[in-house]
Amino acid sequence: MAASHKAMKTVGIAGAGLMGRGIAQIVAQAGFDVRLLDAKPFAAADAKRLIAEQLATLVAKGKLSAVAVESAVAHIALPESIAGFADADLVIEAIVERLEAKQTLIATLDGVVGKECVLATNTSSLSVTAIAAASAHPARVAGLHFFSPVPLMKLVEVIDGLLTSPVVIERLVEFASALGHTPVKAKDTPGFIVNHAGRGYGTEALRIIGEGVADAATIDIILKLEAGFRMGPFELLDLTGLDVSHPVMESIYHQFYEEPRFRPSPLTAQRLAAGLLGRKSGRGFYDYRGADAPARPPIVPPTTIIQSDPAQPRRAWISGTSPGSRQRVVSLLQSVGAEIDTGATPKSDSLCIVLPSGRDATTAALDERLDPRRTVALDTLFDMSRHRTLMTTSVTERHWRDAAKSMFAADGVPVHVIHDSPGFVVQRTVAHVVNIACDIAQQRIATPEDIDLAVRIGLAYPAGPLAWGDAIGPPRLLRILKNLARLYGDPRYRPSLWLARRARLGVSLLTPEA
Ligand SMILES: NC(=O)c1ccc[n+]([C@@H]2O[C@H](COP(=O)([O-])OP(=O)(O)OC[C@H]3O[C@@H](n4cnc5c(N)ncnc54)[C@H](O)[C@@H]3O)[C@@H](O)[C@H]2O)c1
Repeated sequence: MAASHKAMKTVGIAGAGLMGRGIAQIVAQAGFDVRLLDAKPFAAADAKRLIAEQLATLVAKGKLSAVAVESAVAHIALPESIAGFADADLVIEAIVERLEAKQTLIATLDGVVGKECVLATNTSSLSVTAIAAASAHPARVAGLHFFSPVPLMKLVEVIDGLLTSPVVIERLVEFASALGHTPVKAKDTPGFIVNHAGRGYGTEALRIIGEGVADAATIDIILKLEAGFRMGPFELLDLTGLDVSHPVMESIYHQFYEEPRFRPSPLTAQRLAAGLLGRKSGRGFYDYRGADAPARPPIVPPTTIIQSDPAQPRRAWISGTSPGSRQRVVSLLQSVGAEIDTGATPKSDSLCIVLPSGRDATTAALDERLDPRRTVALDTLFDMSRHRTLMTTSVTERHWRDAAKSMFAADGVPVHVIHDSPGFVVQRTVAHVVNIACDIAQQRIATPEDIDLAVRIGLAYPAGPLAWGDAIGPPRLLRILKNLARLYGDPRYRPSLWLARRARLGVSLLTPEA
């Protein structure tokens, strides 16, 4: 049965917890008649009171009129039983995240609502298709995935179950727009768009720690200052709490049948077991205990700012494997008064600087027949104006490492030196994020535009991953990933065919197929 294209007026919401309450608020504010129901006595009434209080704070701030609040609250009715949903055009379920509970509710709703009524689930991690299977009319069941806090996170994923009618999807897209939210359409797959695309950032950062490349604070700083992420991966894990994020990492990994791109880390399993959940437990990757604990970890801890030392060697030879990057580094070093060794091979007492894409410093030094003891690598993926990452080989001597630090910190830009890592911190993390987004496009889970839109709004990344990949250059990303795959021998880094084909064709990663 395919519900017709009837306008929606009355919306039932099952579950008046964190999400149900937020959804009820915005639906009522948009002028729909809301019926809010919860299995727990008084929960719906409490939710309605909290909504009224929440809206009153907006009146106090001058963002909403008292009349608008009164009208919104008056639109929320509290039926005594599920029979109160009988006249609903749409029912959104936001109850506990358990398949059997959701299936029981959907089957019960079948017997209560009219045949044109759409049934939507706000599940984050269950299969919409499996929930819909409990209905005698799975064509009218779809996912309508909101994000927390609902009034502020203005994105909704509209999820197409295997048997969902296209008319139902269009009605939900219209409904989400009427709420003032941005709808994106996605196929029913684990994590939909946002929780799928977001799996690269944290898991890659955990691998970097796991390899002893750098600590959490350093990785956070590098990804914020160099790549422009609003939050570092470890700040984010601390905010969400490992009790939530570790099971999500495991669930997505297993739902994709152990896809290596999503492989979780034993580090979070162990930290979860130790109770180091994050902010909510007072300790996570950062320590939040004590009166003077910072509300947020500092951007650059003062002790890690490197002072330039005029006593250090000031001459550097710079690898020419990437002529464009070499020119940028030459200009940078000349601007701080360093001497450039312009020989075809380095003088015996010059610092050797390599600029690898996806290779580690040791491999780059050996590939280019340089002395690894006086070789240091520099990440040139982004513009190096807010932060610089240097990387040592396994045998770089302290003297040469300090000389490099001193040169690159001479204009006051913060510098961190990390241990050897194919793809530093930024290259491997950003390449992994873009690669996953390309695979989402390849699997036709969503259109390239919707993938970028969902990630920009839902994850607040500095750019949509496909447009970001275009800005970096698909051939360069492909090179980084091929080197990562070769050096690790790990299919985690195998380039998505979506990326590989567009890199070879010289077209945008946003290019759809006819
Ligand atoms: N919390 C988030 O950030 C978030 C984000 C997106 C989606 N979701 C999804 O939204 C749903 C709700 O999550 P939440 O965080 O609001 O949970 P919550 O625990 O705050 O609220 C769930 C509510 O559902 C009620 N409930 C349970 N069974 C019921 C039933 N059969 N009928 C009516 N009410 C019932 C509970 O009493 C509770 O009040 C879950 O499916 C969750 O995965 C959560």
